[in-house]
Amino acid sequence: MKKYYSRPLIYLFAVILTSLSFLSSKPESLLPWINENFQLAAAKTKAMAQASGDSSRIPVTMKTAGQAHLANLYDWRSGFFAGNMWLLHEYTGDAQWQQEARKWTAALEPLKDFKDHHDLGFMMYCSYGAGYRLTNDARYRDILVQGARSLCTRFDQKTGTIKSWNNFKSWTTGTVYKFPVIIDNMMNLELLFFASKVTGDPYFKKVAITHANTTLENHFRDDFSAYHVVCYDEQTGKVVAKESAQGYAHESAWSRGQAWALYGYTMTYRETGDKKYLKQARGLASYLMKHPNLPADKVPYWDYHAGNPAYTPCGTNAAKYKSGVQPRDASAAAIIASALLELCDYVPKKEGAEMIAFAEASLKALSSPAYRTPMGANANFLLAHSVGSIPHGGEIDAPLIYADYYFLEALLRLKKRVS
Ligand code: GLY
Repeated sequence: MKKYYSRPLIYLFAVILTSLSFLSSKPESLLPWINENFQLAAAKTKAMAQASGDSSRIPVTMKTAGQAHLANLYDWRSGFFAGNMWLLHEYTGDAQWQQEARKWTAALEPLKDFKDHHDLGFMMYCSYGAGYRLTNDARYRDILVQGARSLCTRFDQKTGTIKSWNNFKSWTTGTVYKFPVIIDNMMNLELLFFASKVTGDPYFKKVAITHANTTLENHFRDDFSAYHVVCYDEQTGKVVAKESAQGYAHESAWSRGQAWALYGYTMTYRETGDKKYLKQARGLASYLMKHPNLPADKVPYWDYHAGNPAYTPCGTNAAKYKSGVQPRDASAAAIIASALLELCDYVPKKEGAEMIAFAEASLKALSSPAYRTPMGANANFLLAHSVGSIPHGGEIDAPLIYADYYFLEALLRLKKRVS
């Protein structure tokens, strides 16, 4: 990936900018800054759509310098590009963005019958879900409900969970597990809560709550951090392994996994009002905001324990990151910021104010030249410096479409607070 500035200097710049903006962040002073981010996002999104040329070729990351890597609709990231367009429509009120968002959303319709992995919530709720929220289009509602039915086919009574992947091979033992559940799966539950609300059928919500409860029991450590992958025995329903697929080590805190957990339990509390989910989200928020290995600009390394000698790396690729400068994960920072900007409303005022200040500071860092790239750069993704998966050796220090999505969502949440 092209480097725009030398690393230590850009991070220092981000920290200075973050601290200054922090001192002066009167609510109304945030609006021009939020606006400027959306203006750039609009120009870049338009250019990306033109470069792709076809709504079946969906930009998700950059593998060749300057060129977006285009995925098909079955890729777990397929809903975010349409999602970005819906967020642009929401922010600008511009009918052209709605038209464009509708076109990219329509291309995803076959997903309503997709049953091959768990990511339907991401794929459909960020695209069709945003579309329904903003237009009330009954056809979108029906497609979402059908998608929720497909997702529920992966629910298993014995384990009390929705199966994430069809199998998972351990980096350390080579064992192939047949019922892996990843913490990311919490994000897919929003589609199920939605389906119960619009149909009146409690089944979807029951599945979501059962999954959330089982995950609460098995996926967390005493310090509130989450394991990435928990594997179940299909016959007994019991946990047989707690490992990591994308983190530094099985016992480490993979940054994006923590972000999904924070966002997922915040959303699950919103949908249920059950205080045990709030407790988990608050505990994890505190863990992430006060982590001793969090850089000053509040954009985490790809794993909170990356390179920590007390942890045994997951496989050979992760082992390459035993020492040296660790890549940041802008996507984790964006997801955490967005989650905190919701969670802050469910906690006492002082705690909420700390969450808002943290989110604002990390968004300021992300919008600085340390992470945000100019028009034409970075294949027109907004943010650079995310990590897909170091153990898999892919998308390391790269742009990711979902980093842009949650960055825009967080800015919208912030705007709603200050205007
Ligand atoms: N759900 C996959 C990821 O966060 O990379």
